[in-house]
Amino acid sequence: MSEARIIDGKAFAADLRGKIAEGVADVRARHALVPGLAVVLVGEDPASQVYVRNKGEQTREAGMHSVTHRLPADTTQDALLRLVDQLNHDPSIHGILVQLPLPAHIDSAAVLAAIDPAKDVDGFHVVNAGRLAVGLPALVPCTPLGCLMLLKDTVGSLRGLHAVVVGRSNIVGKPMAQLLLQADCTVTVAHSRTVDLAETCRRADILVAAVGRPEMVRGDWIKEGAVVIDVGINRVPARDPAAAAAGKTRLVGDVAFEEAKAFAGAITPVPGGVGPMTIACLLLNTLTAACRSRG
Ligand code: GUN
Repeated sequence: MSEARIIDGKAFAADLRGKIAEGVADVRARHALVPGLAVVLVGEDPASQVYVRNKGEQTREAGMHSVTHRLPADTTQDALLRLVDQLNHDPSIHGILVQLPLPAHIDSAAVLAAIDPAKDVDGFHVVNAGRLAVGLPALVPCTPLGCLMLLKDTVGSLRGLHAVVVGRSNIVGKPMAQLLLQADCTVTVAHSRTVDLAETCRRADILVAAVGRPEMVRGDWIKEGAVVIDVGINRVPARDPAAAAAGKTRLVGDVAFEEAKAFAGAITPVPGGVGPMTIACLLLNTLTAACRSRG
């Protein structure tokens, strides 16, 4: 049994960002159209601040117009809805992303519903979720879109393969299942309440883990040669006890990577697998939304 091929999401995402930058240069030159992305951050969540900074930097690197609105944690829902409305009507903005999680006093669903579906580059609006479900052109959530690209690059045609998606969130699990169905996979959606999850996973040619539980998927849950896409990003104490006692942490996925490598045909690492694809796909969705805005 040979060791799994490591799927280099970091390199794939860098290549994709290069292609997006070419696409942006092209629409700027041909149509005097500068794709614009507005990111809205409410409050001071440290992880969100890092994500939002990275999004702004990569948007500018791709040659797009980037605006970041940083609002205080006590911003009212009405004030946030007014900003979304203003961005909906701003012709220089083609994509709007409201960073989640929002503070507890704000109804996230109401805010996401207020975003113009044509500018919903997260693909979280029910209109985009519905369009994806019925096979109409849609803005597709960035993380599952990135997973699909890595899968197609690794496997080629996915037709007829059995895909098991572990996780049923609106952001990853459900849209991932829709994309795999469209790619002619036979799809099983499993989750924390699935009876005999290990046995279900063992039937997968393609296993997508998106449950948010560190290293839950064990090596012997993986069929030999299966392609494993690990969406999890979990912070756990450092391996070295002294470092852990000092508060040091490390990132792990939802899959026990070292074990899984012995069974899988190919696998994404954490970090450096799915993570970098998410922002690259956000840029891609912004370019798509800008091009569609021309009618
Ligand atoms: N918070 C963590 N990931 C995401 C994402 O993909 N989109 C938004 N809007 N918020 C997030």
